[in-house]
Amino acid sequence: MNKNFYITTPIYYPSAKPHMGHAYSSIAADFFARFKRIDGFNVHFLTGTDEHGLKIQRAAESKNIDPQIFCDEISQTFRNLSNTLNLSNTDFIRTTEDRHKKTVQYLWSQLEKNDDIYLSKYSGWYSVSDEAFYAEEEISVKEDNKIATSSGSLVEWIEEESYFFRLSKWQDSLLEYYENNPDFISPKSRKNEVISFVKSGLKDLSISRKAFSWGIKVPNNPEHVIYVWLDALTNYISALNYPNIDDDLFKNFWPASVHLIGKDILRFHAVYWPAFLMAAKITLPNKVYGHGWILSGDEKMSKSKGNILDPLDIIETYGLDPLRYYLIKEVSFGNDGNISQDRLEDCINSDLANNYGNLCQRVTAFAEKNCQSKVPDIKNFIEEDLSMLNKFSDNISLIRKEIDNQNINYYINFIINALFEANKYFNDQEPWKKKDDPQRLATIIYTSLEMIRKITFMLYPIIPESTIKALNIFGLKEEDIDFNSIGENNFLKSGEIINKIDILFKKIEKND
Ligand code: ME8
Ligand code: MG
Repeated sequence: MNKNFYITTPIYYPSAKPHMGHAYSSIAADFFARFKRIDGFNVHFLTGTDEHGLKIQRAAESKNIDPQIFCDEISQTFRNLSNTLNLSNTDFIRTTEDRHKKTVQYLWSQLEKNDDIYLSKYSGWYSVSDEAFYAEEEISVKEDNKIATSSGSLVEWIEEESYFFRLSKWQDSLLEYYENNPDFISPKSRKNEVISFVKSGLKDLSISRKAFSWGIKVPNNPEHVIYVWLDALTNYISALNYPNIDDDLFKNFWPASVHLIGKDILRFHAVYWPAFLMAAKITLPNKVYGHGWILSGDEKMSKSKGNILDPLDIIETYGLDPLRYYLIKEVSFGNDGNISQDRLEDCINSDLANNYGNLCQRVTAFAEKNCQSKVPDIKNFIEEDLSMLNKFSDNISLIRKEIDNQNINYYINFIINALFEANKYFNDQEPWKKKDDPQRLATIIYTSLEMIRKITFMLYPIIPESTIKALNIFGLKEEDIDFNSIGENNFLKSGEIINKIDILFKKIEKND
């Protein structure tokens, strides 16, 4: 079995202030990266910043700063964000780095060599905020006489000499590829929109610009810079040192397991990117997964709409793990999700403080008093214990399968159920009434501790920092977390010390 796993987030346009949508993409990717790591995979997790193009050039000009200096500054904001979000990324790529530019120019020359590029003239609509070309039927004149796409992006007319990629040539190969690789575009609900777009007829794609200079130069024609999406998409392989196909990074991690992206950039990832790769004779990634949007009211949260919930403010008020937990739990993965501070507070109070935190506190306090703060050394499981404990071993393959289908909701629901059962078990078994039956008392404690241990292992990809704290109960460390061991009922060693830990999550006082 291939035990390598390569996951990517989109590389962000750093000119926007990081918002909840960015945080969401990254946290979801981090969840998968951490899960695969505790499941024994060698994980490569890439994120970074997309720094070329007219959008960035204009932003730099408006501040009167040299674009490279501007990018150095703003890219750092996103690097800081990945620390703030506690991302476990193994690389952070910037498209202004040499390693990236070399790969992009190499890819260009491959496309050229294979006769997939020609020089012509482009005239049409272009949206600088999306860095995308739009067809006449995709735009309209708005009330204020501005011309924009249906999603509200303003477009401008451009007319200039441009290199083109023979996208039309790849139409049938793409359709055949979607057909033969039914999971390539996920979730399924997104697949049809891509297929019908491709079926409606692909036009050749303009892949260079002459009117501005902030980009990677076209080899042998430095008057042109390479279209920022051809540039940006290539980050997924430049980070693996392509074209050095003998490099361990490329050998181990290409094709990517999954490009996790937002649904607004599906066309680039599910149409253009695979076509570029086919043309360059590079294997296609296994999957492109388009998640939904974080909405504010009914609208996509975005800078231009001014409806941004600042992840940094939320983290400062509530802490990081509550935000991570909330985003993973509340948004049905693949669909759009509305977020609200009120629901976040409910989540903290009921799930994190009451169900999880309280279970940890209660059981350890009880073990301290009644088992001299040690993992009990007698255990005689009966049906009530085993039926709860065994749910993990019974479902371990299913959990893995659901994760490979990006079914985060299955995963978190499994945990929520287990938490509910563990709390109910502790109440129903009433260990405080078993002081004259030390063997039963010890078994109840042991079972409850095992439940905490299993649940904590499973919660780790969602709330890493808090679970690492919780593991102090057992003197366990992050590197001891092994997903496979959730199937074991005797993981905790009898006689080991049980440590008291600080409250994991503070309840929020609500005014209502
Ligand atoms: O598109 N909810 O960068 P970007 C959920 N540089 N996700 C959201 C969101 C929201 N409200 N708003 C944005 C780019 N996103 C390119 C990517 S990849 C080779 C180049 C997601 O900073 C969006 O869907 O505009 C995208 O996946 C990511 O944030 C980066 O958006
Ligand atoms: Mg965007």
